[in-house]
Amino acid sequence: MNYMSVKDIDSIDTWVNEARIIKKHPLEHKKLGADKTIGLLFFNPSLRTRLSTQKAAQNLGMNTMVMNFDKEGWALEFEDGTRMDQGKSEHIKEAAQVISQFCDIIAIRAFAGLQDKEADKAELVLNGFKKYATVPIVNMESSVGHPLQALADAITLDEQLVALQGRKPKVVLSWAPHPKALPHAVANSFVEMMQKQDADFVITHPEGYDLDPEIVGKSTVEYDQKKAFKEADFIYTKNWSSFENYGQVVSQDGSWTIDQEKMDLTNNAKFMHCLPVRRNVVVTDEVLDGGQSLVIEQANNRTYAAQTVLKKILDNM
Ligand code: CP
Repeated sequence: MNYMSVKDIDSIDTWVNEARIIKKHPLEHKKLGADKTIGLLFFNPSLRTRLSTQKAAQNLGMNTMVMNFDKEGWALEFEDGTRMDQGKSEHIKEAAQVISQFCDIIAIRAFAGLQDKEADKAELVLNGFKKYATVPIVNMESSVGHPLQALADAITLDEQLVALQGRKPKVVLSWAPHPKALPHAVANSFVEMMQKQDADFVITHPEGYDLDPEIVGKSTVEYDQKKAFKEADFIYTKNWSSFENYGQVVSQDGSWTIDQEKMDLTNNAKFMHCLPVRRNVVVTDEVLDGGQSLVIEQANNRTYAAQTVLKKILDNM
C-alpha cells in the first residue's frame, strides 16, 4: 500500500474516525512498528511534516532515518536512458532500490519546480521512487499534492463539527497574497479532500488564479471573496501561484489578505492554514492570534494523520 494522494483514502469518514481514536491513545500500537524503519527523504525544507511524521513513526515503535537529500544526497537523475555526463551523479533506479534495502517505508518530500507544468504534473521524483522502490511510498508533499496535510485538515474539521449540531458546514478555500511563487499542492489536496466531504464547499481567488481544472472539477468557484465568505463556517487560507501562467505571481492584491473585517462576514468561522504563514500578508495578527484560529491544532493533527497512514501501511505488510 502506498499513500501518494488523497485518492488513496478509500473512506474519509473511516480514516478520520481511526485518526481520532489514535489521537486519544497514540501509544496503543507501539509494538506494530518494532524492527521496522521509515526513511524520510527531504528534497525541500519542512518543520511540521518532518517532526510530525517522525513522531507518528516513533509512536508506532518504528526507527526513523532522515536525509536532507537536496543537501546530503547525490544529485539524482530521474529520466531513463540518459547519458549521465552532466551534473547528476546517481540514477533513481539504483538509489530507490538501495534505500529500499535499508527502509521498510520511504516517505518523500519533493515540491513542484514551478518551471514546467507538464514535468510537475508527471511527479518525476515521487513516481520515480514508486517505480523503482520495493517498499511502500508515502507522499510528504509532492508537485501536485500534500495528502498528509489534507488528512490532518479533515481531522481538524471533523473535531469542530459538533458545534454545528448536524448542520452541513460551509467551507471556503481562499487564496491570499504572498510575495513568492508557491506550489498548488496544499490547495489541490484540500480540494480533493473536500470533494469527499458532505459540505457546501467554495473556492475563492482572484481571476487568473484558477487551480488545475482537472482537480477543481465541479467544485464551486467564486471570484468575489466577500460574497464567498458569507455564512462560512470555515475559512481555509492558502496562497498559490498561477496555474494558467504556470508558476507566475500575477497579483499580490493586498485586499485579499484575511482580516477580522472579512472574518466578521462569516458565520463566526474558524480560520485554518497549513503553516508556515506570512503574518500580515496572508492573514492579520488579529485573526491568526484570535479565538477563531485553528492553525496550532491543525499542526498537532499532522501527527495523527501520519500515524493513521503509517499504521495502515504496517497493517498491510
Ligand atoms: N504544512 C506543512 O507541510 O508544513 P512544513 O512545510 O513545515 O512541513
